[in-house]
Amino acid sequence: MTIIAPSILSADFARFGEEVRAIDDAGADWVHVDVMDGHFVGQITFGPQVVKAIRPHTQKRLDVHLMIAPVDLYLADFAAAGADSVTIHVESGPHIHRSIQLARELGMGVGVTLNPGTSLDSVEPVLDDVDMVLVMSVNPGFGGQKFIPQTVDRVRRLRRMIGARDLLIQVDGGVSATNAGELAAAGADSFVAGSAVFAGGTIEHYRTNISAIRQAADAATLAAV
Ligand code: DX5
Ligand code: ZN
Repeated sequence: MTIIAPSILSADFARFGEEVRAIDDAGADWVHVDVMDGHFVGQITFGPQVVKAIRPHTQKRLDVHLMIAPVDLYLADFAAAGADSVTIHVESGPHIHRSIQLARELGMGVGVTLNPGTSLDSVEPVLDDVDMVLVMSVNPGFGGQKFIPQTVDRVRRLRRMIGARDLLIQVDGGVSATNAGELAAAGADSFVAGSAVFAGGTIEHYRTNISAIRQAADAATLAAV
């Protein structure tokens, strides 16, 4: 199953509610929410209040990517705001297990993620504790960056490392219909895309863009079976 998760980092911030409804209607499976703190990454985006504000505009999973440090202090606020899942960077603090446990206790789905320069071994100890591993395909911090091609091999190696576990692999950064096929063939299930989904700025464009990514991924998945 291919999961397309448009990143609202590329939405029109002045029309968040409308934009979230538009990607939902256009076929998004999840809504990816990029939280940046100006410390773990350079940019400041938004926090729990924005999650709370967009929550009534979609029933779909709010997939909250936390690019913040520290993390634990804010997890309860994201849960209360209506986040369905949080994805936590292994680089964001010394106690990844503790953050994962806390997010679970708060009733949220949990993903773990790692920057392109971080070894895959760093997530191995928590593979039994998460629902998803997000393999960053750019260095986090900005939308619209160029996809790092080595990500495909990392996804392949991670899929092997996961083995029989029931875990999703998500990719995020520079993802488009051009690379979704090779990523799916390597073992990715969930595709975050900001600029590739929001290009064009209308719901018709969003629908075409989402289905192009989905078709590329599905075709490769079918060919691999
Ligand atoms: C990167 C973020 C993203 C990213 C996606 O720091 O986590 O979700 O902005 O945007 P595009 O698809 O434009 O690279
Ligand atoms: Zn993201």
